[in-house]
Amino acid sequence: MDKIAINGGKPLCGEIAISGMKNAAVAILLANIMVEDECIIENLPDISDVNRSLDILSAMGATVTRLTHNSVKIDSKNIIACSAPDELVKKMRASYYVLGAELARFGRSSVACPGGCDFGVRPIDQHIKGFEALGATVSVTDNHIVAVTAGGVVGDSVFMDVVSVGATINVMLAAVKAKGVTVIENAAREPHIVDTANFLNACGAKISGAGTDVIKITGVPTLHGVTYELVPDMIEAGTYMVLAASTYGKIKISNIVPKHLESISAKLVEMGAQVIEDDDSVTVTRSGDLSPITVKTHPYPGFPTDMNPQMCVLMCLANGKSRMIEGVWDNRFRYVEELKRMGAEIEVADTVATINGDPQKMQGANVRAIDLRAGAAMIIAGLSVKGHTEIEDIFHIQRGYENIIGKLQAVGADIEIISD
Ligand code: EPU
Repeated sequence: MDKIAINGGKPLCGEIAISGMKNAAVAILLANIMVEDECIIENLPDISDVNRSLDILSAMGATVTRLTHNSVKIDSKNIIACSAPDELVKKMRASYYVLGAELARFGRSSVACPGGCDFGVRPIDQHIKGFEALGATVSVTDNHIVAVTAGGVVGDSVFMDVVSVGATINVMLAAVKAKGVTVIENAAREPHIVDTANFLNACGAKISGAGTDVIKITGVPTLHGVTYELVPDMIEAGTYMVLAASTYGKIKISNIVPKHLESISAKLVEMGAQVIEDDDSVTVTRSGDLSPITVKTHPYPGFPTDMNPQMCVLMCLANGKSRMIEGVWDNRFRYVEELKRMGAEIEVADTVATINGDPQKMQGANVRAIDLRAGAAMIIAGLSVKGHTEIEDIFHIQRGYENIIGKLQAVGADIEIISD
């Protein structure tokens, strides 16, 4: 098994260009199932979740052609209904988008229950509730989800009981070719929802309100192919912003939408870092000590749950007591045990972590990447503290960060992949 080896404690300086957004990529790639035509997707990150999504499309009968390192052509004309292979679907969470896309194209779908990071219970009741509102009969048996309509999806009102990124996108996908109008209320507002709606609208869909909590979809009979460039990854950007602050560095993070990063910038500034915004970049520096703070994660535009572990590292490096309150997932703190190996003092009670920050107490150690963002947090911690750190289970990190080793080496990090 490969590991990441780090010699930490150096300020990191330079520029990092951000790749396309993972969570937009997986949704938009699988949305291709409903476009019976050729699409070109650009700014596609080279990460394993993208490659798995492409494998699912190929296995279902699409013709997938790599054009460049970061662009792909997908011809979905020959996709066969209900043909997503279980072993691929089980490897990633976002494979649930096959359900919405197949319902839109075929009026029926059958998919294995999805995999992904383990943050405790990850229900899909809101996806199912939405599909049922649009006329599908849904059953979950033997680890399979089966959704069937009598002659296609029919538009209706769907009120989400919880704000869910996946359920909002999935119901939006299912509704695009429905008879009539669908209105999703209490919709999630993440930039990847807007990006997925923009892609579908470019293909001929009629979606309005994406980015607000009410999305209206007027069904259209067909979609046509397009060339579409993905939005930059706000969580990748946020990860490197934290890294600049944690290493006393100066990093320009480019190819981003600064507006997507406002909640992260605000918290970094509150801790004592400097964040300078430009049109499509932010530059983060830090010279003095970090102050302790309280962060609560929320759906967008709140502070993102996918920045919880990275921010927690910064709290360990501040002087004094910080609190990280997890407002989205019920079990996101499994990484805390790993940070404790590096000397961190953290107590977790339910969904609140109290961090007794003291930079002097932290040093390199052997740790695991518990999940994708926890893995990124281990890299930040390893690069920020003195000593040698080795990180196991790095396949989690490779799911979501394109060329993370190369990007970090380019800003002066002493980091490499080693084979055990
Ligand atoms: N929820 C329900 N019922 C549902 C769906 C969700 O109760 O039917 C609850 C969940 O248990 C959770 C909350 O609603 O407490 C939010 O879950 P959401 O559905 O928004 O999460 P998701 O769509 O499964 C996406 C991202 C995650 C990110 C969350 C929250 C993708 C592929 N994944 O997951 O990203 O943490 O939104 O922003 O888009 C990551 O990139 O590392 C990652 C885990």
